[in-house]
Amino acid sequence: MNDQAQGLRNIIKMQSNTNDSKTRVITITSGKGGVGKSNLTLNLALALQLKGYKVLIFDADVGMANIDVLMGVTPKYNLFHLLKREKNIQEIITKGVHNLQIIAGGSGIQELLNLSQADLEFFAYEASKLLGSVDYIIFDTGAGLTQQSLNLMMSSHETILVTTPEPTSITDAYAIIKMVHSMNQQIEFKMIINRVTTQKEGRLTSEKIRLVAKQFLDLELSTLGYIGEDINISKAVKRQIPFLSAYPNTKASRDIQQICSTYLSEETSNSNTNVKGFFYKMIRLLK
Ligand SMILES: Nc1ncnc2c1ncn2[C@@H]1O[C@H](COP(=O)(O)OP(=O)(O)OP(=O)(O)O)[C@@H](O)[C@H]1O
Ligand SMILES: [Mg+2]
Repeated sequence: MNDQAQGLRNIIKMQSNTNDSKTRVITITSGKGGVGKSNLTLNLALALQLKGYKVLIFDADVGMANIDVLMGVTPKYNLFHLLKREKNIQEIITKGVHNLQIIAGGSGIQELLNLSQADLEFFAYEASKLLGSVDYIIFDTGAGLTQQSLNLMMSSHETILVTTPEPTSITDAYAIIKMVHSMNQQIEFKMIINRVTTQKEGRLTSEKIRLVAKQFLDLELSTLGYIGEDINISKAVKRQIPFLSAYPNTKASRDIQQICSTYLSEETSNSNTNVKGFFYKMIRLLK
């Protein structure tokens, strides 16, 4: 037992000494399902990649992982193979459009919560190799609050919350904010309002959520931007090509590029934030 504890401490020490400040970790989440998380994850990742950053998407949706389907690739291996020690971290990465990297969580996401100490150390060690080798790791989660998504939010530098202007989506978004806030006050949400018909509708939706969060939770929320309702998203999904690639000049593509620029400008202004290594936090949370 002592040996194991020492092993874990060594890994934590090693990771906190690693120069991983280059890699930022983002978690994308939502209250209600089907609001556009996976499409936004993929296309925001692509927008960053097209600006010259190296991006890795980690598909952490336990039940219905589908980043691979949206990108038209079939990963040979996933997190499960890593946890079973059949493959190393590089071997479970699949390359997609514009060299975007993805790791499919598969059934490995569920396994993460039940790992033995030794497996956890192995995972943390392998995963820490990603830090520094990519600029961004973006986690696409399933809808609603699960232990896994909460751990990811608590370990990430940023949590992006996606909602649409529909009242059901707004109330579910607020419910997530409230639950997460009651458990951890450090998590900062940045909102994206998807499927807006006008900019005004986007503004009103985000104002609504911001006001309630301020009034009842004394919490400041920021908004990254709005994505218009766009038929070309559905067309791109059917073609299994990210909409930014398939229709670079369509409304949604212009909107995601705008969001990418806003994200990068805000991130620069926060660049002094002292952030600890992602996997360092992650393994502490799992224990
Ligand atoms: N801005 C938009 N305009 C039009 N249709 C959209 C838009 N955003 C998303 N959609 C539609 O919604 C569908 C669901 O999107 P997506 O799979 O990205 O949602 P999700 O939040 O990841 O869902 P889940 O909660 O099941 O993981 C897309 O296939 C597309 O048809
Ligand atoms: Mg999804």
